[in-house]
Amino acid sequence: MKKRFGWFLAIIVALIMTVVPLGQTQHAQAADNSLEQIQKKGVLVMGTSPDYPPYEFQATVNGKSKIVGMDVQIGKQVAKDLGVKLKIKSMSFDSLLVALQTGKIDMIISGMNPTPSRRKNVDFTHVYYQGGYDIVINKTDKAKYKNKNSFKNGTLGAQTGTTQYNAVKNQTTAKAKGMTSQSDLILALQSHKVDGVAMEKPSAEAYVANNKSLVAIPSDFNMSSSATSSAIAFRKGSTSLVNKVNKTVDRIKKRNLVKKQYLPAAGKYLKTNTVNTSMGHYWKAFATGIEYTLIITVCSVFFGFIIGILLALARMAKGNPLKTAIRWLATAYVEFIRGTPMMVQVMFVYFGLGLFVNLPALTSGIIAISLNSGAYVAEYIRGGINSVDVGQTEAARSLGMSNGETMRYVVLPQALKNIWPSLGNEFITLIKDSSIVSIIGVTELIYQSNIVRSDTYRGVAPIVVIMVLYFILTFTASRILNYFERRMQHD
Ligand code: ARG
Repeated sequence: MKKRFGWFLAIIVALIMTVVPLGQTQHAQAADNSLEQIQKKGVLVMGTSPDYPPYEFQATVNGKSKIVGMDVQIGKQVAKDLGVKLKIKSMSFDSLLVALQTGKIDMIISGMNPTPSRRKNVDFTHVYYQGGYDIVINKTDKAKYKNKNSFKNGTLGAQTGTTQYNAVKNQTTAKAKGMTSQSDLILALQSHKVDGVAMEKPSAEAYVANNKSLVAIPSDFNMSSSATSSAIAFRKGSTSLVNKVNKTVDRIKKRNLVKKQYLPAAGKYLKTNTVNTSMGHYWKAFATGIEYTLIITVCSVFFGFIIGILLALARMAKGNPLKTAIRWLATAYVEFIRGTPMMVQVMFVYFGLGLFVNLPALTSGIIAISLNSGAYVAEYIRGGINSVDVGQTEAARSLGMSNGETMRYVVLPQALKNIWPSLGNEFITLIKDSSIVSIIGVTELIYQSNIVRSDTYRGVAPIVVIMVLYFILTFTASRILNYFERRMQHD
């Protein structure tokens, strides 16, 4: 039995490994109508990681948080020249390339270097900016560190998936500490978890300009010109689109707009950012985070409960080969979901299914969390059903009730009463687990705290605020659930 079940799971995994690459191949082999497609769609979706001032970062403009910076100016100009609207999607830097390849975004403008390894998977425009790399350190360590060689036994931080992360690993003897968010790296530096953070010069200058406790030192990384320049990335084979956008990039370079207009404009936002850095000033951001956290939780509990009931009944099916197959499938699903991390499931639904159907990040997050929760709720319900005395079923059947009627009117109501505490725990757990969707850019509480952190350059305060907010949410929910549990026990 176990052996056949193992083969069954192996077949499922093999299918997944075959289907996903096929979808990517189809994308790559399609004839090049990339320019025509964008102009027909009327929207150009730009992917970026807005934690890298002055390239792209969050700023509060007229009380609303928005993504600004030189890359945003370039994105706007590209969209204008194409005659389409610009839509900006933010996500972690190391998610951008997979988002581009799976069609979640149409281009990447995120200070990305057009390195040879990336050129194997995407097409780049001409270079729009030539930078270089610095290392940001605490001012108190200024006498200690001179360049990359000063960190022999230290720890150097860099954003995961970046050129500078590879440089830290390959060109220094320091311990490389990778983090997805640049803001987290600055927080780690200020709390002495790392001794320095490697990043591009304009970004280093921006962080230093807004943090009197930080200074920048030269990195002296040995970098090729492609590794110190920035270009726009498009899907492989988008020749017509790249050629058209190159005209915009060449014009921006010729008129030196980055240095003359875009960087000064970004600098103004950086200055206004740090005018009012009180957490109360960002109450709208936290309120939006709570709203999305509750939307994700309520929807996931609802759909997870339905999936859980269906799975529980499926796992109890028996009597003929079809029911045996259904039981097997349900068992395989529950084992597989409980055996894989929710983060991987969220990314699979958003990027993997994105090859076939373009689901918004919020929808993808709710689907992934519902599918995950359903596997756990199924076990609670199955335990609840088994806890109902078999005499109840016998009595119902002796009164002429069918199996379905017995389950619906006699067993399930008692089972649900027994598993109410477990369902309540699941709701509380999902309030906290909903934060996982911040990796695909859903603006829930964690995502909002990252915005406030990169906006105010304050590391700890936003974290304390969301800790308190999560506690208020979970404590209130548990009080309400306990009230209904007492009501049910009384009934
Ligand atoms: N230029 C580096 C690279 O392409 C880092 C870019 C980081 N950009 C960001 N928005 N965090 O790897």
